[in-house]
Amino acid sequence: MGSDKDALSWLDDRESERRAAGLRRELRPRTPATGLIDLASNDYLGLVRHPDVIDGAIASLRRWGTGSTGSRLVTGSTTEHALLESELAEFVGAEAGLVFASGYAANLGAVTALAGKGSLVVSDAGSHASLVDACRLSRARVQVTPHGDLGAIEAALRDRSEERALVLTDSVFSADGDLAPLREMHRLVRRYAAVLVVDEAHGIGVRGSGGRGLVHELGLEGQEDVVVTATLSKSLASQGGVVLASERVCAHLVDTARTFIFDTGLAPAAVGAARAALGVLRREPYRAQAVLDRAADIARIAGVEVPPSAVVSVILGDPQRAFDAAAACRENGLSVGCFRPPSVPEGTSRLRLTARANLTAAELTTIEHVLDDVLSASAT
Ligand SMILES: Cc1ncc(COP(=O)(O)O)c(C=O)c1O
Repeated sequence: MGSDKDALSWLDDRESERRAAGLRRELRPRTPATGLIDLASNDYLGLVRHPDVIDGAIASLRRWGTGSTGSRLVTGSTTEHALLESELAEFVGAEAGLVFASGYAANLGAVTALAGKGSLVVSDAGSHASLVDACRLSRARVQVTPHGDLGAIEAALRDRSEERALVLTDSVFSADGDLAPLREMHRLVRRYAAVLVVDEAHGIGVRGSGGRGLVHELGLEGQEDVVVTATLSKSLASQGGVVLASERVCAHLVDTARTFIFDTGLAPAAVGAARAALGVLRREPYRAQAVLDRAADIARIAGVEVPPSAVVSVILGDPQRAFDAAAACRENGLSVGCFRPPSVPEGTSRLRLTARANLTAAELTTIEHVLDDVLSASAT
């Protein structure tokens, strides 16, 4: 072979294509105090700087050190990991829990351990990227069904030749903030002897009584054919992920989930922070309803439908238009999310505004002024 051609020159071609399509992503510097009103983060309950949560992280850090030092199966599992698991399980009404190093790893671990060659995985078209990747890694036959299409899920389950089947969905979809029809999906998995895996990343802390999640809200908690996954990085103001399921499922994951076995255990400080954040949420359950109330305020200001979650999407269509509007928001004191393909379908680039339980009246007034200006300028 041998050539003096740069083996990575194709990267420059792709970069030019992305630039022309308005799809370059940039890592903007972040400073501890930006002075911006935060409508971009997933710190839904406003707990990342809560003194109890910081103290929880520091106490764990002092006791256990900075790192977990290895897979929990190799260097041992701390009492704090076990407490976090039982506290989370108790909170959402599950029998048991298993903590992973991230929500991404929890989804990969759960799906690959519960599906495999010879099984079927049915996944909603709006499922999070981590569930999409889990499908790819599972080696199962994968059928992606149109968003929220119960008929398509039923047909896939009914017509399958495989004995085992999993149905995957987010409870609250991260881009549009809409809810999955979980009760109906559960009826289908029951009817067709399948298992429902529900990613509650955006549901815990927001939906259900005191933030127990949508599965709990709909009375599906504790059912063995419902496996809940979640991240600790949103409402719980930390880092990490968890699978909340029956003892039997969690034991199976300890033995077979590769992202549990071959990944370093969740860092002690993250465990301490998540436990403390859960403690705050238990003591102050009104925070969950406050997130929904603030999301309704933001939606009214932006002139879009009130969402059933913390996520307010203002669809602008063109990626460059969304990028420019997000930049204008920042220049005027608002940090907002800007979602473009491949995070969202073509033609639906948007501002993604996330509500926080502790947004103040003064902040809402600023949000109103800035959004009015930016959205009317963007429309012209
Ligand atoms: C729906 C959903 N699932 C999973 C994840 C991944 O969680 P983590 O960031 O903890 O890896 C995210 C985003 O972070 C998400 O939005």
